[in-house]
Amino acid sequence: MAPRAPNFICQNCGAAFARWAGKCEACGEWNTLVEETASRVRVPSRKGRPFAVEPLKGATAEAPRLASGIAEFDRVTGGGLVRGSVLLLGGDPGIGKSTLLLEVAAAFARGRHRAVYISGEEAVAQVRLRAERLGLAEATVEVAAETSVEDIVTTVSQGVIPRMLVIDSIQTMWTQTVDAAPGTVTQVRGSAAELIRFAKRSGAAVILVGHVTKDGQIAGPRVVEHMVDAVLSFEGEGSQQFRILRAIKNRFGPTDEIGVFEMTGGGLREVANPSALFLSERDLGSAGTAVFAGIEGTRPLLVEIQALVAPTILGTPRRAVVGWDPNRLSMVLAVLEAHCGVRLSGHDVYLNVAGGLRIQEPAADIAAAAALVSSLTHAPLPANAVYFGEISLSGAVRPVPQSAARLREAQKLGFTKAIAPEAARNDAPEGFTLATIGTLDNLVADIARDSTPALRRVSRQDS
Ligand code: TYD
Ligand code: MG
Repeated sequence: MAPRAPNFICQNCGAAFARWAGKCEACGEWNTLVEETASRVRVPSRKGRPFAVEPLKGATAEAPRLASGIAEFDRVTGGGLVRGSVLLLGGDPGIGKSTLLLEVAAAFARGRHRAVYISGEEAVAQVRLRAERLGLAEATVEVAAETSVEDIVTTVSQGVIPRMLVIDSIQTMWTQTVDAAPGTVTQVRGSAAELIRFAKRSGAAVILVGHVTKDGQIAGPRVVEHMVDAVLSFEGEGSQQFRILRAIKNRFGPTDEIGVFEMTGGGLREVANPSALFLSERDLGSAGTAVFAGIEGTRPLLVEIQALVAPTILGTPRRAVVGWDPNRLSMVLAVLEAHCGVRLSGHDVYLNVAGGLRIQEPAADIAAAAALVSSLTHAPLPANAVYFGEISLSGAVRPVPQSAARLREAQKLGFTKAIAPEAARNDAPEGFTLATIGTLDNLVADIARDSTPALRRVSRQDS
């Protein structure tokens, strides 16, 4: 007897198992295995036929893309939607995916392109209500509430092929090509495959919405990530107004760009100058905060890094970090201990990137270290200064890319001073003070000196 095909499928990552288990061995999520009817493999009815292969070298026009006109969206997609491409927009329920895509569809319609918005979750009346709230009631977007992929493809193939088709959401779609319940990995993949085939054949750009699900009751967007051309994620803290659109994968563009939006009563507003937004509620004059001059993609972005260092009552002190890599925090703490004489093993350490932003750059090391030392010594950092630079395990401060852009942005926002690696020496704009540091203990000494008010601060440049 042939072995039974594995048919317990993890709804989070799509891994298949022969028997049920509480925890998925592949991705580590709990309670995500669901039994799905194994789809039968069909025996091909004809022999394969040879096809022509082409040389790699050859003239091919650049991927034709169309910008929506919503600058923050276009930036993240790498300049607009590529014809025949499929994009997956993932995010937590309620974050604003439907709102964003209705606005993008309306923008395309405004540019006289056919834009179709299919909702599998809401009735047409609900989509209309949202459009009214967004001030888009007059937009020539075509709307329908449908869940059958075959019906959708047949309908939108009639007449002019839409320039963009929104499927909200892929988890509500079902296709006749596979027999499994809607929302399962098999159905979500099958439906995505059909829609991808439609995009490639027709040239329409298809955007699939995928809800990120925590409990694994329905398949998450990860199970189709490898099939689509681009994956964007829409993120934000529930309590915060701003939303970050981030490219996670993009076959036709860069993946490090972010778009910043603000959720308002009348829909999403583009934030052209995110630094001003992220710094708008700065707590001036208190210890433990440092402004980091960062770069997201091609864009400089200033954010406040907040630290709290407090004596611990626990045997193992707490290390909690929001918005940054915990491993980098551990590294910065270790370097402070080993090379700068800063003892933190008896302290709880909390680090937070203000505004709900998640930063990935190692260039934030110096800003994090400055905030930590400032909190420990109760010495507020100068309010007019920004910090950037990577720290190596030896305690040396390493150069980081795009210093000039960081410094220009800092000056634009009213800062007059930066603490930066030596390599940035010649990048300071006119009228801007640069205090370069070679090793982390220079920075620690500077901050510690300020913790004694009697001693006037003497910057390295002044001395
Ligand atoms: P929605 O786009 O429905 O989220 P998703 O499709 O990702 O589930 O947005 C839902 C939230 O956005 C809802 O809590 C209300 C809020 N919202 C506004 O604040 N302003 C608006 O103009 C709209 C349309 C929604
Ligand atoms: Mg929605």
